[in-house]
Amino acid sequence: MIAQIEALQAEVEAFAPKTPAEVEAFRIRLLGKKGSITALFDAFKSAPVEEKRTLGQALNRLKTTAAQRIEELRTALEEAALAAGAGDGAEMDMTRPATAERVGTRHPISLVRNRILDIFGCIGFVPADGPEIEDDWHVFTALNFPPEHPARDMQDTFFVEKDPDILLRTHTSSIQVRVMQNQRPPIRVICPGRVFRNEAISYRAHCIFHQVEGLYIDRNVSFADLKQTILHFAKEMFGEKSEIRMRPSYFPFTEPSTEVDVSCNLCGGKGCAVCKHTGWLEIMGAGMVDPNVLEACGIDSREYSGFAFGMGVERIAMLKYGVKDLRLYFENDLRFLRQFTPVF
Ligand code: DAH
Repeated sequence: MIAQIEALQAEVEAFAPKTPAEVEAFRIRLLGKKGSITALFDAFKSAPVEEKRTLGQALNRLKTTAAQRIEELRTALEEAALAAGAGDGAEMDMTRPATAERVGTRHPISLVRNRILDIFGCIGFVPADGPEIEDDWHVFTALNFPPEHPARDMQDTFFVEKDPDILLRTHTSSIQVRVMQNQRPPIRVICPGRVFRNEAISYRAHCIFHQVEGLYIDRNVSFADLKQTILHFAKEMFGEKSEIRMRPSYFPFTEPSTEVDVSCNLCGGKGCAVCKHTGWLEIMGAGMVDPNVLEACGIDSREYSGFAFGMGVERIAMLKYGVKDLRLYFENDLRFLRQFTPVF
């Protein structure tokens, strides 16, 4: 029996666990109900009387060193785990400084859209809204796209239902129609919204994007009003030194129609990669509302005239922030989204 005690004593001294779980298993194996030290205490009862004194001393020493060593190792290992941060919550440290909550950022498209609404809001344009799922009449027919007209091919359409045609609006110009049907001039609205086109997705095209549409209808609204309004917008959006130029274009719903360029704010008009060395950046389509559109919406085209314009929010955001791939706006990658702050 003394040999067994000495063997266990040596085992206790050599014990080198790596985890608190190993310590606990060791304790159970030695000091548990069926542990080897416990068994020795049982055996001690029937030991010869003359051996009891030495055996008893040896046995007590073994029990004490085992208990002490187990306690020391358990504390040391638990502290090490806590220092390494591998706590299970039980070792919560109430004195540690809190990590600051991360505040969210606005999506770049929202930042730019809000800025566009602000600029026009300051000169009396009121926000207006319309449905994303529209009928053919509001998206095309009322806007002077006759049925079968090739201009309908300018915008590849997602159809929801056929006969009567229900579709996803391809442009926010449909909101113009809804506003003119429901309000009498003077009308001055700014209409943001999502639009949908059946296009292959690439860095420069997406099947969903955002537009902002503007409409102004009153007596004696002229092309000069359109020009000044857009010049004001360009200066507010791209800087006081900005200039605009208007190129003749074609849209079924405006006559005359124009595409508007703003002087490149990166190179100051000298020519760079972004403006493809032209010094100009295309920002929107615009024009005088075609009398056919006014009439289709119940507004007397002999009494009233107006202008309209429409721009792509992704396009403006690209010019403001230098984002060259449209797809990034839709991926919701936080590493991308966290970079944006208002630059206006
Ligand atoms: N709806 C046109 C488009 O999606 C943009 C546009 C051009 C809107 C001229 C207008 C406008 O109001 O006058 O390409």
